[in-house]
Amino acid sequence: MAEKIMIASGKGGVGKSTFAAFLGMRAAKNGSKVLLIDADTGLGALDILLGVSDRVMNTWTDVVLGHCDRENALVNVSDSLFLLPSPSYYPDDISDDSIKTLTGLYEDFDLIIIDASAGIDSNLAMCAKACDRAVFVATADEVSVKCACAAAGEAEKYGVDRDDMRLVINRFVKKKAVKSKLLNVDGVIDKSGVMLLGILPEDKKIPFLSVTGTQPDEKSPFVKAVGRINDRINGKYIPLKI
Ligand SMILES: Nc1ncnc2c1ncn2[C@@H]1O[C@H](COP(=O)(O)OP(=O)(O)OP(=O)(O)O)[C@@H](O)[C@H]1O
Ligand SMILES: [Mg+2]
Repeated sequence: MAEKIMIASGKGGVGKSTFAAFLGMRAAKNGSKVLLIDADTGLGALDILLGVSDRVMNTWTDVVLGHCDRENALVNVSDSLFLLPSPSYYPDDISDDSIKTLTGLYEDFDLIIIDASAGIDSNLAMCAKACDRAVFVATADEVSVKCACAAAGEAEKYGVDRDDMRLVINRFVKKKAVKSKLLNVDGVIDKSGVMLLGILPEDKKIPFLSVTGTQPDEKSPFVKAVGRINDRINGKYIPLKI
């Protein structure tokens, strides 16, 4: 059975899709067969982030609605990384169980990463119902953390256990956090009530990669931090490095 991890946040633009894409690439490089589901219906961007938008033929809603079979919607990103793109419109005829139904068709994968949309609406419910574990992404500020808390509370309603939830702090700049009196790491954890999985640094090159779809530099602190998070997901003890 595939392990299903939802990446959610509450607040928009905190780096869910970026993290989902890099985590997928890392897990695939480490030998897992990985499926990325772009569940951000209508506003999906994983095809662009992964540089495969010109190869998108079908979307995951086409599979759910029976317009194509499971193979015809998969976009091959690398040998072991596949994407199910999101449609560019919001179909009315999908239910809260759609992603759960969908993941059931791809149990031969080792890992399914579900990139949720921002907000605590039906999309979060749909993704939460399908996942075994959830990672909430927040930046180190009050608003973002408050929204991650709200999303965690909502996910709990749909069956995700608190013990299966983790927090990732993205775009962290230690100096800025201290100088501008932004929340520090402890503050974020205390406020969220969700255990910390890792910290991703601010990386000026990330938005550029989003535009070009270029492969990330393996030596960059961001990519290394994603690697440590992937190891922790796989049960390894990797101390936090700030
Ligand atoms: N660690 C980082 N350093 C610098 N820029 C980043 C970092 N993480 C994400 N970004 C940038 O932040 C912007 C938003 O990222 P992304 O689209 O991944 O967020 P999101 O949470 O998926 O947004 P949405 O809620 O719209 O789905 C992008 O321009 C991305 O390149
Ligand atoms: Mg996104």
